[in-house]
Amino acid sequence: MNITDYFSVIENADTFKRYGKVLRVVGLMIESEGPAANIGEVCYIHASSNDRKPIISEVVGFNNEKIILMPYAEVTEIGPGCLVESTGKPLTVKVGRALIGQVVNSLGRPLDDELSTPKGLSSYMTDQTPPNPMSRPPIRKPIQVGVKAIDSLLTMGEGQRVGIFAGSGVGKSTLLGMIARNSSADINVIALIGERGREVREFIEHDLGEEGLKKSIVVAATSDQPALMRIKGAYTATAISEYFRDLGYKVNLMMDSVTRVAMAQREIGLAIGEPPTTKGYTPSVFSILPKLLERTGTNTNGTITAFYTVLVDGDDMNEPIADAVRGILDGHFIMDRKLAERGQFPAINVQKSISRVMNLVADPEHKEIAQQMRRLIAVYEENSELINIGAYKRGTNQEIDRAISYYPKIQDFLKQDVYEYKSLEETVQIMKTLLNGGMN
Ligand SMILES: Nc1ncnc2c1ncn2[C@@H]1O[C@H](COP(=O)(O)OP(=O)(O)O)[C@@H](O)[C@H]1O
Ligand SMILES: [Mg+2]
Repeated sequence: MNITDYFSVIENADTFKRYGKVLRVVGLMIESEGPAANIGEVCYIHASSNDRKPIISEVVGFNNEKIILMPYAEVTEIGPGCLVESTGKPLTVKVGRALIGQVVNSLGRPLDDELSTPKGLSSYMTDQTPPNPMSRPPIRKPIQVGVKAIDSLLTMGEGQRVGIFAGSGVGKSTLLGMIARNSSADINVIALIGERGREVREFIEHDLGEEGLKKSIVVAATSDQPALMRIKGAYTATAISEYFRDLGYKVNLMMDSVTRVAMAQREIGLAIGEPPTTKGYTPSVFSILPKLLERTGTNTNGTITAFYTVLVDGDDMNEPIADAVRGILDGHFIMDRKLAERGQFPAINVQKSISRVMNLVADPEHKEIAQQMRRLIAVYEENSELINIGAYKRGTNQEIDRAISYYPKIQDFLKQDVYEYKSLEETVQIMKTLLNGGMN
């Protein structure tokens, strides 16, 4: 590099620090006069007493000439006149292989010791634009999820994005843990957003387990954290996935839950004065969701296969977030409380669920056998009332007879113990044996 290049860098360097000062604090918002900053920029607010660490905050809006900031941390000791220093940059996190096996917060710092950052990490912006649709390779290869109900009838492709729709206590966390341990992805990035602290610990120790954690990075933003931290948890987890995708990895991203991300954005939107629309959600919620969910999937280097959980109360699939998310993704898996109550775990209702890429990734024989299995389930369920009250006489209809004798075996096959492992090939093999094994 020529010496003149160095000179030009020095000449163009911004050697000024820009400061503003706090005018007032209203709820979650801090209003300040200056510094000159753009939306999304990170600012430090220096607390009144000097020995305190500055509070990291982000520009979320403007009010006439004034800047509206929102803090990443709990705010104490901030008052009128406190100095606001702009960093001139949006939020970045430190990412690298050293994060594998760690549990980090929304800013990418290890949860057990927030001051230590593992060595050898590189800076990565948390907000990225989705890959150009024209440069995205299509999804063509199946990926093993390691859950029989999914691999058999809802086969997924590398880089597919699906929503898992369920109420609470139906088995989402358990299912995500199984996927993390059993899938053929190289690494899992798991974002736990808006859960209670106890649930985070339970998930890591119980659902994920030591074996799952070894090939995972967990990003946790609990419900007690400020709204901005919860949102950033989603961005940071997505950014970490993108970093590994760019290295050519097959990444699994699991976000539990995207509903809580939407709720955090609603909190911010309402605080900065956006109008509430359906269920109080503000317009910005519906503009950030597609931007966030489009970042995953394939790019020219690698793939991010993504699982987004959506909380649905009483199976109301028309709830605004469920509706918005379903439209963006390439499939939806519906977990059914009725199945859970019957002890049919994982409680995925395969009839109501769909993988939109199964046809592109499963081999013809597998597709054929999956169709037969779906048909048997459908015929049984259409006639289940008649069958259960004994109004159906065997021998009346050959197809119903067949469905009756296969249905219990199929249900049995779809059941899976939490620590049971089946590869995609094994699952397909079992399906074939089950359907071709003759009737008895
Ligand atoms: N595959 C499974 N096999 C047996 N029990 C399960 C299975 N999945 C979930 N459960 C039961 O359901 C309960 C709730 O599951 P959890 O994953 O915590 O639900 P959620 O995350 O949706 O609130 C668990 O405590 C467990 O008893
Ligand atoms: Mg859970």
